[in-house]
Amino acid sequence: MSDPTKAPNRAPTRLKVAVLISGRGSNMEALIDACAQRDFPAEIVTVVSNRPDAKGLDRAREAGLSTQVINHKNFTDRKSFEGALQAHLEASGARLICLAGFMRLLTGQFVEKWRDRMINIHPSLLPAFKGLHTHERVLEAGTRFHGCTVHFVRPEMDDGPIIAQACVPVMPKDDPDSLGARVLAQEHRIYPLALRLVAEGRVTVRSGRALIDSHPPDTALLNPPISA
Ligand code: GRF
Repeated sequence: MSDPTKAPNRAPTRLKVAVLISGRGSNMEALIDACAQRDFPAEIVTVVSNRPDAKGLDRAREAGLSTQVINHKNFTDRKSFEGALQAHLEASGARLICLAGFMRLLTGQFVEKWRDRMINIHPSLLPAFKGLHTHERVLEAGTRFHGCTVHFVRPEMDDGPIIAQACVPVMPKDDPDSLGARVLAQEHRIYPLALRLVAEGRVTVRSGRALIDSHPPDTALLNPPISA
C-alpha cells in the first residue's frame, strides 16, 4: 500500500504547460498558484520570457520553476526566434502554451503548429476591443461593462475560440487604472479556470467555437441595475 505522506494526491496525468511572458507576470502567478493545488490537472514545465528583465521571471524562479529567456533581440527575424522557441518548447515536453502578457506577435506558421494547444488572456470582452489600451478605449466608448477573455490563439491578433470570459461593471468614477485593476482581478480567476477546463478535456473546438462541458449562468447582469 502506498504511503499517502509520500505520494501526494496529484491528478494522475497532468497536462504539461509552458507559460510565455514578457513582463510582470501576474497571470503567470495565478497559474502557478493554481498548479500548486493538489488536484489541479496541469503543471508548468517551463516559463519562457522574450525579455531578460521581465519581473515575472523572479517569481517563477522563486516558485522553483524552470525558466528560459529567449531574447527576440538576439535573432535576426521572427522565424529564427520562433525556431529557438519551438526547440525549447519541444525539449520541455510542453503540450499546451499559455500566453500570459507575452508581447510578441507570433507568425501564422507557429500559431498553426500549436492550433488548439495555445491559449491567451486578453483584457476585454472579445471580440470587442482587440489590441492595446483596452481600459482607456472602454472608458472613451462609455460601455457599461468591460472584462477579460481567455481564448485559443489564431493567426489574427486577439482572435480565436473563446473559452472563458468575466464581465465587470464600469463605474462612473473609473479611470484606466481602477478599471484595469478590476479587470485584472478577474483575469486571475478565469485563466486558471480556463486552464483547468482545457486540461480536463472539457473544451472542444468545433466550427470555430469552443464548446464547454459546463453549465452557464442563467442570470442577466444589468448596469445600472433595475433598482437604480
Ligand atoms: C494582462 O492584462 C493580460 O490580459 C494581457 O497582458 C497583461 C499581462 O499582465 N495579455 P501580467 O504580466 O499577467 O501581470
